[in-house]
Amino acid sequence: MTQRLVVYPGSFDPLHHGHLDIVHRCLPLFDTLLIAVLRNEEKRPLFTIEERVEMLREQVDGNHRVRVESFSGLLVDFVERVGAVAIVRGLRALSDFDYEFQMALMNRRLNSRVETVFMMPKEEYSYVSSRLVKEVFFLGGDVSALVPASVLARMQVARAAREAPETTG
Ligand code: PNS
Repeated sequence: MTQRLVVYPGSFDPLHHGHLDIVHRCLPLFDTLLIAVLRNEEKRPLFTIEERVEMLREQVDGNHRVRVESFSGLLVDFVERVGAVAIVRGLRALSDFDYEFQMALMNRRLNSRVETVFMMPKEEYSYVSSRLVKEVFFLGGDVSALVPASVLARMQVARAAREAPETTG
């Protein structure tokens, strides 16, 4: 029987409950889900690629149908290389649509075999983005309901490191 592999790409900086909600929604539809973390050196991420991969692995630990890898270069090339049947992306609100529509059509232009599937996260996560989670957190707001506890703990460590006075020598 053909195994249906789907790639769920993103920056995941950091992952939040909206991402995990999409992961769980994919499992009844596909045999294997490959979470693909973009290696983007230019974006100055909060967490390194290794940390982001590790945090995702912690969350999906024990589920042999979910894999986590990093990728660089064109997403469609990665999708082709791993033999996935589709890309899955979360669609939260109308504001996501323009960007997602452009990416899906560009990806299709680059490789017409690559299909994009959109999934809606739970309503309670429809406003949650990594960018807002970081902004609220660094301004002292409570994001504990939006990210897993282990991610919050790492964010606290990252914030403490940023706030620590620089030592010279
Ligand atoms: O979580 P994000 O940052 O919205 O994810 C964006 C991502 C990783 C899906 C997108 O930037 C991407 O696919 N980058 C890989 C490079 C690429 O293929 N670019 C052309 C996309 S049309």
